[in-house]
Amino acid sequence: MLGPSLASFAQVVYKARLACDGTPMTAATHIKRLCGDLQPRVGIILGTGMADFAEQVEAPISLPYTALDDFPLPAVSGHAGQLVLGRLGQNTVAICQGRSHYYERGDATAMKPVINTLQAIGCETLLITNAAGSLHHSAPPGSVVMTSDHLNFTGMSPLFGDSGNQRFVDMVGAYDTDLRQQLQAMADAREIPLSEGVYMWFSGPQFETPAEIRMAGILGADTVGMSTVPEVILARALGMRVAALSVITNMAAGLSETTLSHEQTLANAHQGAAHVSTLLTTLLQDVTL
Ligand code: HPA
Repeated sequence: MLGPSLASFAQVVYKARLACDGTPMTAATHIKRLCGDLQPRVGIILGTGMADFAEQVEAPISLPYTALDDFPLPAVSGHAGQLVLGRLGQNTVAICQGRSHYYERGDATAMKPVINTLQAIGCETLLITNAAGSLHHSAPPGSVVMTSDHLNFTGMSPLFGDSGNQRFVDMVGAYDTDLRQQLQAMADAREIPLSEGVYMWFSGPQFETPAEIRMAGILGADTVGMSTVPEVILARALGMRVAALSVITNMAAGLSETTLSHEQTLANAHQGAAHVSTLLTTLLQDVTL
């Protein structure tokens, strides 16, 4: 494995994104060359307020998304745009500090190069975090909800335009039962309040109307957000197992007196993010995924 200083030197060299024969290098090739023997097994996508989580990685190799072919540059505050590779507990990880959202360009495939790359470098598990609004006062701002299933209210798919039978993805059990049980057991042992719920994907960037939230509740949603679902669809299409944790940053529209804003999302993300961080760290320390 390369040490940090050698890694940053390699970063500069590889930034040219050209192989020795002058042909463009894919992000996966680029990362594999940098990582040497360290093969990441667990991909992690950090949502709003979670970027500090990557500081726990031992001997990290950090790559800005600008150095990785086709990686989307996050255009939202709170999303750094950096990939951190290294060891965390019993696992080798590839941590995405920041994501792109459908609403940034109206493009549901925004995260496709990222998920494809994580899978190509050897990640079989994908752990996703996000910020979300809650439909239940029993899961208030600052709490954490683990996704048990989702509702795709956008009608969009990151698989539009794909060909072949792999695009007909079975979405039953998309959120891995074993991972959910392990995370729940860890939360119970540490007395971290963790409930499960159905996450409804809205396109954003505007927050929902109170009528939309009433509809979401009738349709079976427990949380609402503007991310994650395209990433899960892409990961399932590639056979990765997935878990997703939401930091609740606000009661959904119409359920509290508070005015919804991105500033409020950022401010409230910190409380729940500490719990999510503890849960993920414990999982990665205790279990070889
Ligand atoms: N709606 C959609 N996305 C969100 C919310 C919300 O209430 N809170 C954080 N992300």
